[in-house]
Amino acid sequence: MNAQVQPQTPPRPAFGSVLTDTMAVAAFRDGQWTQHELRKVGPIELSPAAHVLHYSSTCFEGFKAYKWADGSVNVFRMDRHIARLRQSARSLCLPEPTAEQLATMILAVIDRVRDQVPEAPGALYLRPLLIGTTPNIGAAATPPAEAMLLVMASPVWDYFAGGMKPLRIYVEEQATRCASHLGMVKTGGNYAAAMGPTLAARRAHGVDQVLFCPGGEVQETGAANFLLIRPGHILTRSLDSTFLHGVTRDSLLTMARDLGYRVEERVFTVEEMLDWAKTGEAALSGTAAVLAGVGTLVARGSAHPVGGGDVGPETRKLRAALVAIQQGEAADRYGWLHKV
Ligand SMILES: Cc1ncc(COP(=O)(O)O)c(C=O)c1O
Repeated sequence: MNAQVQPQTPPRPAFGSVLTDTMAVAAFRDGQWTQHELRKVGPIELSPAAHVLHYSSTCFEGFKAYKWADGSVNVFRMDRHIARLRQSARSLCLPEPTAEQLATMILAVIDRVRDQVPEAPGALYLRPLLIGTTPNIGAAATPPAEAMLLVMASPVWDYFAGGMKPLRIYVEEQATRCASHLGMVKTGGNYAAAMGPTLAARRAHGVDQVLFCPGGEVQETGAANFLLIRPGHILTRSLDSTFLHGVTRDSLLTMARDLGYRVEERVFTVEEMLDWAKTGEAALSGTAAVLAGVGTLVARGSAHPVGGGDVGPETRKLRAALVAIQQGEAADRYGWLHKV
């Protein structure tokens, strides 16, 4: 190595690849939850017959806490994420933690690791996880009577550190992302189901993500909701059981309505989307990136540029408005942030 070369700042770890040193753990047995304990992050013990390992009795959440300029740490829409985890647990017949128990565990972890929260535009990503632990490989049609609830946290840095690159998206009209009654449930099996079609589309079309449009109706991508945007107007699919009810989606739509946009929530087709893309914008919404612009839709054998093929001005404007609230630079008029 040339001794003259200045050491470079090492690249930040990839999203989700490191955890903070503390997690909260609680167990469900004999019909009730134990008091949680804060533990050093490390391996957990499970029977090889644990229900989750065979029958995928698992659900999780993902959301962020932000360090503000005044040094405080503020969680974004924790109540919504707690409600979604509880609803996922109900759908999967897993023991349901109470909202208070979940909030206590989340806040305890944040408090313990507050010195590990990166400065903005970084954040602390929170990941509660609920798994069925009953050791019984014969329980394919029996819900787990025992479960474990964990809350872990991961420091994450600027999602767009390399600049805001417009995404290239494959429009998938055959494969579904998951079973249609489970789309609104945040469960590992849905991500496993989307993996094959996503990797196939990456190989065949060099895309970043797949937009699932079974039967020609636009749904969502493997890990984000989908919005069509133009000045003063947003179109996105209306809520149903087939896709995840994103908290970022809800936040953007709430804000946009107050900014005077007409927000249309309804079923729309691939044809309508391709028509919109000739002059309008398209974007993916989710906790990780907030709002990421789509530059190209690969559909029906050809590549369709979206607007000018770059991240559009409306997408940038809406993203900046929500990020300003999350980072404490704009007033929290909706009461979305919880100071820890
Ligand atoms: C399948 C799927 N859809 C949508 C979203 C966006 O949800 P949220 O805005 O709550 O992060 C996610 C993100 O976790 C997701 O995995």
